[in-house]
Amino acid sequence: MKNGRRGFMGKAFGAVAGVGAVASLYAMKKSWDPLPSVRSAGFTTLDMSAYKENELVVEKWRGKPIFVLKKTAEMLAKQNDADKARDILVNGEHYMVCIGLCTHLGCIPGYDSKGESFLCACHGGMYDFTGMVTKAPPPRGLDIPPFKIDGNKLVLGEEGPEYKKMKETGITL
Ligand code: FES
Repeated sequence: MKNGRRGFMGKAFGAVAGVGAVASLYAMKKSWDPLPSVRSAGFTTLDMSAYKENELVVEKWRGKPIFVLKKTAEMLAKQNDADKARDILVNGEHYMVCIGLCTHLGCIPGYDSKGESFLCACHGGMYDFTGMVTKAPPPRGLDIPPFKIDGNKLVLGEEGPEYKKMKETGITL
């Protein structure tokens, strides 16, 4: 009787310990895997139909400010080939989409919609509405984040063919 009880207790304890071990293994595996929310947090999806011409909107991607500027017909008329190569085209509309951090030392430039230009107040660097440098010290134009065009949407964090081409041709890092 005593042995039987001990045997039962032993099995019960073993079962509980087994469940605990599986649970802790599961918890350990979960901590090794990236969390789904972190993975999806790496992407920002923008509905490009929501933007208005020459109105800068600052979005956020991976903690960084992202400048989105829909270009006007007048802006497009002023662009040369190098400027046009930086455009992101969605449904026939042209956009400047750049990481909103100055390439000099990382300040956030401000946009002047009248002058259609960006001024970085830290050291006086300037960029035009395409994100190209017009006044030093910034060493290069505003960086373009990885993007993928998906219908009316722009997915930041994914590398679509248009972004890959920009990278290959040295338009962005
Ligand atoms: S950080 Fe922008 S000009 Fe220096």
